[in-house]
Amino acid sequence: MKLFLDSANIEEIKKAREWGLLDGVTTNPSLVAKEMSKGKGFREVITEILHETPGPVSIEVIATDYETMLSQALKISSLGSNAVVKLPMTLNGLNATRALKEKRIPVNSTLIFNGIQALFAAKAGAEFVSPFVGRLDDIGEDGMSVIEQIKTIFTNYDIKTKILVASIRNPLHVVRAMIMGADVITLPFDVLSKLPSHPKTDEGLSRFLKDWENAFGSMEFPL
Ligand code: E4P
Repeated sequence: MKLFLDSANIEEIKKAREWGLLDGVTTNPSLVAKEMSKGKGFREVITEILHETPGPVSIEVIATDYETMLSQALKISSLGSNAVVKLPMTLNGLNATRALKEKRIPVNSTLIFNGIQALFAAKAGAEFVSPFVGRLDDIGEDGMSVIEQIKTIFTNYDIKTKILVASIRNPLHVVRAMIMGADVITLPFDVLSKLPSHPKTDEGLSRFLKDWENAFGSMEFPL
């Protein structure tokens, strides 16, 4: 089970790496545009992320027609050995996925909202499928049930494509994805930072230390 950071912000990526919680990164055009608005170029933003990340980094094309998608994909893939091309789940995206599979270039098929889209992306040769749970919750659907659907379909047909749960909004999404057996969960930085802590952990620790200090009047370690 891998944890990816859903961010194009290099400070967030460095922090997640320092914490030992960074298996990979996902970006999208909105996240990259936000970083570029601070004055960095596309190549600079992406190469920094590729360099800082110990695993796969998904970088999305901005074209929607097959030819341009493919040419952008090849440029993205040439930026680093850990670059994964993110393609939207459209008919052109599926054809481009097939072409990249032949060239052994890994694809993350994004903007997936049901099991059929996930199956089609997998059949086209995607390495990852990215179902967006939060955006389904936003329109009153149960995003997590789509993960269950995809997991069942992939198990039924022995599909090896990895389920990368995206559009995560809270720790409950994370734990439910883990219970369902997701291969990868990509998290925004604010959700990732919340995961290691629990108020009862903090309370318990402070009580242990207070009891020790009350008993011995100091925190000197006796060994
Ligand atoms: C995934 O790869 C996407 O970048 C991301 O999870 C989208 O999340 P959002 O719905 O919070 O924008």
